[in-house]
Amino acid sequence: MYNDDKENNGYVLNGELERQRKFMLEIKKLNEDFEKKYDRKKTMFISTFGCQMNAHDSEKIEGMLKTMGFVYADCEKNADFIIYNTCCVRENAENKVYGNLGYLKHAKNTNPFMKIALCGCMMQEDNVIQTIRKKYRHVDIVFGTFNLYKLPELIYTNIETNSPVFDIWKEHGEIIEDLPSVRKYKFKASVNIMFGCDNFCSYCIVPYVRGRERSRHPEDILNEVRMLAEDGVKEITLLGQNVNSYGKNLDENVDFSKLLRMVNDVDGIERIRFMTSHPKDLSEELILAMSKCGKVCSHIHLPFQAGSNRILEKMNRKYTKEKYIELVEKIREKIPDISVTTDIIVGFPGETKDDVDETIDVIKKVGFNSAFTFIYSKRTGTPAAVMENQVPEKDVKEQFNRVLEVLNPIVFEKNKAHIGKIFKVLAEEVSGQDENFITGRLSDNSIVHFEADRNIIGNIVDVEVYDCKTFYLMGKLV
Ligand code: 5AD
Ligand code: SF4
Repeated sequence: MYNDDKENNGYVLNGELERQRKFMLEIKKLNEDFEKKYDRKKTMFISTFGCQMNAHDSEKIEGMLKTMGFVYADCEKNADFIIYNTCCVRENAENKVYGNLGYLKHAKNTNPFMKIALCGCMMQEDNVIQTIRKKYRHVDIVFGTFNLYKLPELIYTNIETNSPVFDIWKEHGEIIEDLPSVRKYKFKASVNIMFGCDNFCSYCIVPYVRGRERSRHPEDILNEVRMLAEDGVKEITLLGQNVNSYGKNLDENVDFSKLLRMVNDVDGIERIRFMTSHPKDLSEELILAMSKCGKVCSHIHLPFQAGSNRILEKMNRKYTKEKYIELVEKIREKIPDISVTTDIIVGFPGETKDDVDETIDVIKKVGFNSAFTFIYSKRTGTPAAVMENQVPEKDVKEQFNRVLEVLNPIVFEKNKAHIGKIFKVLAEEVSGQDENFITGRLSDNSIVHFEADRNIIGNIVDVEVYDCKTFYLMGKLV
């Protein structure tokens, strides 16, 4: 990277951040000139696809754009700076980006100031970059997952050269700390604890687009959590593709269970969540830490993906159905009221009806509180993409429906068990359905709607649950 960066315990002091700050100031000046000339501020629109990691990256993008003087546009087509933070885990997320880009071509003709930027996981795929260069020439700036912090410089270069800027790195550089960021919620925040993934599940493109695993230093994480707590944040979500391998590449003797205990000690934080856990390396120490740390929510998201051992092996998941079930039992033994949620893929190459029966068996035996179910999506470059016996779409749909038919009633029953009880709920936002209602979350991650004044948002309140549907609870403020 840049020679002027100073080493500090293997970390790069943010000389790089200083560089970007200068670009941010330059662009801010240009935006102020624009405002004087046209009597309006430059506007921005950010679209985020995919997981919480992307949502969190978008908060950093927003922070940088705001520092540069951009304000929100009322809608996408009126924005001067449009950025798509993309996801490539499944094909439909990619198709949506292409569809939107086609539409933006026309919108750009009506706004001469419009700039379009693309970033995120999709941009790490060679075939995507080729397609954009060939078919979407109205795109101005493209960068990937490893150089998000360079956005100010890339905008500046695009203005200076008046030509498209592509900056995709094949590998990660140093972790850049302290980017400006705008949090969506005042009272809850996500904190990256690690980046990348080394697991190479055979269906998954993440290791190719997010690079090798690297953990942030515990002190950096704790400083961020402390700052957030001082700023009024009550709930922290620790983010990583596989939090259970936190610390592996660090000199410090720290693993995820230790980190959890340290975060639990930060004053002001009332709730701690984390995601995602890989079953293969969820340790006894972690279960113990979860049971001992009063602030850690009683919820674990533990993707099992498939129930058939044959399929699990082909997926390179490194555990068996029996081990998974045993692990959940062990967790429930130590933390009886914990809710367990999961991810399931249906239609992996070679998966038969009998294999899906095994998946259904896991669903029945574990009794998940909730699950994300996905139809397998072939991702070019992954080992599974070239496996024999790709399952035809109509067969997958049939199996997918079979899974849902078993899963949904189980989830409903789990929800029903809440009825008549009182729970601590973090009031998060006004309900999208009815503005007299507030939507909040229980410690176990269930969603509840209840009638209340909006000034309770951000508080942890007592709510009695009186009814439920498959995906949410209904309650009343106690
Ligand atoms: N097809 C379908 N689902 C996938 N996931 C990851 N890759 C694929 C794919 N190629 C799912 C997994 C993972 C979740 C984040 O996305 O279930 O846990
Ligand atoms: Fe993908 Fe597996 Fe890594 Fe999760 S653990 S990001 S599914 S490779």
